[in-house]
Amino acid sequence: LPNHLTVKEGHLYIGKHDCVSLAEEYGTPLYVTDEERLRSNFTRYDEALKKHYPDVQLLYAAKANGNLTIMKIFASLGAGADVFSSGELHMALLAGMPPEKLLFNGSSKTREDLSLAVEKGVKVSLDSFDELRQLNEIAGEAGKIVEVSFRINPAIDVPTHPKIATGLATSKFGIKADQIVDAYRAAMECPNVVPVGMHCHIGSQILDVEPFAKAAEIMVRVAGEITDLGVRLSFIDIGGGLGIPYNHETEVAPTPQEYADAVVPVFLKGIQKLGIKPQLWVEPGRNLVGDTTVLLSKVNSVKTSHKKFVNIDAGFNLLLRPAMYDSYHEVIVANKADMERDTEYTVTGPICETGDIIAADRKLPRTEDGDIVAILDTGAYGYSMASQYNCRPRCPEVMVFGERSGIMRRGESVIDILNTMKKLPWHEK
Ligand code: LLP
Repeated sequence: LPNHLTVKEGHLYIGKHDCVSLAEEYGTPLYVTDEERLRSNFTRYDEALKKHYPDVQLLYAAKANGNLTIMKIFASLGAGADVFSSGELHMALLAGMPPEKLLFNGSSKTREDLSLAVEKGVKVSLDSFDELRQLNEIAGEAGKIVEVSFRINPAIDVPTHPKIATGLATSKFGIKADQIVDAYRAAMECPNVVPVGMHCHIGSQILDVEPFAKAAEIMVRVAGEITDLGVRLSFIDIGGGLGIPYNHETEVAPTPQEYADAVVPVFLKGIQKLGIKPQLWVEPGRNLVGDTTVLLSKVNSVKTSHKKFVNIDAGFNLLLRPAMYDSYHEVIVANKADMERDTEYTVTGPICETGDIIAADRKLPRTEDGDIVAILDTGAYGYSMASQYNCRPRCPEVMVFGERSGIMRRGESVIDILNTMKKLPWHEK
């Protein structure tokens, strides 16, 4: 287990807090995040890279967990953000991240998104020629000049779930190799746009450093071609993607230091050859937040049909990953954390779908209604992908820090859901 999770007198603890007491105090389902772990994850990543090259900028991938409190913590530690929507851009600015540390990514931005980027003075990572033309027009109308990068499609196959490999030749993202030079040339001809950077992202939950090193090599090679065109690169953004171990028995993940040791020297060698000194940008999401959080859920019922089911109050409405990517998350019965795991159960949520399975065929202690289960490593792409399916309000998020705990997002109510609905004028009596 990560070291902020411990077992004391049979109960699972997150930091100094008994998960069972947290579930009682705040109710279930409940996301609980450990602030100390957030901070140490960030520092570890930052220091690992800066050991090789001081001019590194971390851009937290806001999609992983967009809670403002979390974004503020990262902002205070010096982070910028990879934002993928106007909403994420607003959150990053509200969190106090300076516009120059933000990159507006996205393969399908609206004109409103582009206008907001222009207005706030953030850099834009362009994903198509159409977007370049639109941004140039919008910046021109605003009388501003916008700094841009292009997202490069490095055409790399990566060992991860196909739905989260983002840099395949067939992926929807980025500009393909034989169009990159044309793209930068086109940008140089646009009066209201200056190309200053390069961007790529090869995929997520990657547990091998090799593909990252390969991507870095491709990026510096392309940097050479672009520099020859006359572009002065102020940053090269090699994306995020370093995975974490979800199965604590079978998976090992490279440490951020191992990642940095494999990737930064490739980058350094490349830029030294070119005689340029761009900043190195990285966009980690999962690695910073994934292991900081547990999702606490209560057992509603246990039944034996063709197998044994544990029916809990959190399903894919709150944690989509198992249903969407067949992801593995450890499940611990928080009030029986030191009991022998002698019974095989399938842990299911309350959603009206057969696929609403949080964990299939897992050995757990003998479980009964009222038990509290903790679903581990749910800080990344957990709450941020939650929905109100089956008219289920989303649950609260709590932060713990030392002895303290507090709500960083309140739970929704059915009234919250109802309040967005309107009566049509022709249905009014
Ligand atoms: N930058 C860009 C441009 C990205 O597309 C992503 C993730 C990241 C950074 C952050 O990657 P990370 O360091 O978190 O791996 N919902 C999926 C993951 C989708 C990731 C998409 N892009 C999941 O739950 O596994």
